[in-house]
Amino acid sequence: MVIKTATFVKSSGKWQDCPEPNMAEYAFIGRSNVGKSSLINAMMNHKDLAKTSGTPGKTQLINHFLVNDSWYLTDLPGYGYAKVSKSIRKDFEKLITNYILNRKNLVNLFVLVDSRHTPQQIDLEFIQWCGESGVPFSIVFTKVDKLKPNIAIKNVENYKAELHKTWEDLPEIYVTSAEKKTGGDEILNFIQKTNEFLTNNHVSFDE
Ligand code: GTP
Ligand code: MG
Repeated sequence: MVIKTATFVKSSGKWQDCPEPNMAEYAFIGRSNVGKSSLINAMMNHKDLAKTSGTPGKTQLINHFLVNDSWYLTDLPGYGYAKVSKSIRKDFEKLITNYILNRKNLVNLFVLVDSRHTPQQIDLEFIQWCGESGVPFSIVFTKVDKLKPNIAIKNVENYKAELHKTWEDLPEIYVTSAEKKTGGDEILNFIQKTNEFLTNNHVSFDE
């Protein structure tokens, strides 16, 4: 997909304040600092469309970007940020889960996980929740530039094996680097194909 335009629409503190749900929407979620905002910028070929930071907890609101005037890309706050109080963490969780469960134009969620680590409990729990809640999602491995290729492959295989303990069918998997701008095109292809499918089947979000 060629990105002709990518513009920031608004930041929302709750799902009710998000833009009219009148177009297909795709959202990025994952642990704080996993690289959600960086990957959005890499895919949109834009240095600082989404705000990034070396310090976890940068994105604290639901940020909507309008792409090619036809679909929304959403940057969500990270989950599991340890350095805030339990009650604030709970507030973030509520913001995220309410958005996911209530956003009726949400077509697919991209769950980002750091390719350098073994499967983390918090990510596995979130993936489990998506599966149980019937939320369509894909898994995106990030920061693969930080690994030697053979280790990256091993880590992805290891992750798949962990998921296979629970699930027979695995979701789509993408391996990416925002730094090297790799893997984002595959995600954009998926979004393009899905958008075409929705159009061909006359799925309209406009009511
Ligand atoms: P929150 O908004 O806090 O939830 O974080 P986030 O998931 O949006 O992460 P962000 O994109 O802000 O990136 C966090 C840090 O990781 C920054 O220092 C980025 O430069 C770095 N980073 C992100 N993606 C990559 C990548 O592909 N490769 C490398 N080497 N660093 C990356
Ligand atoms: Mg962010």
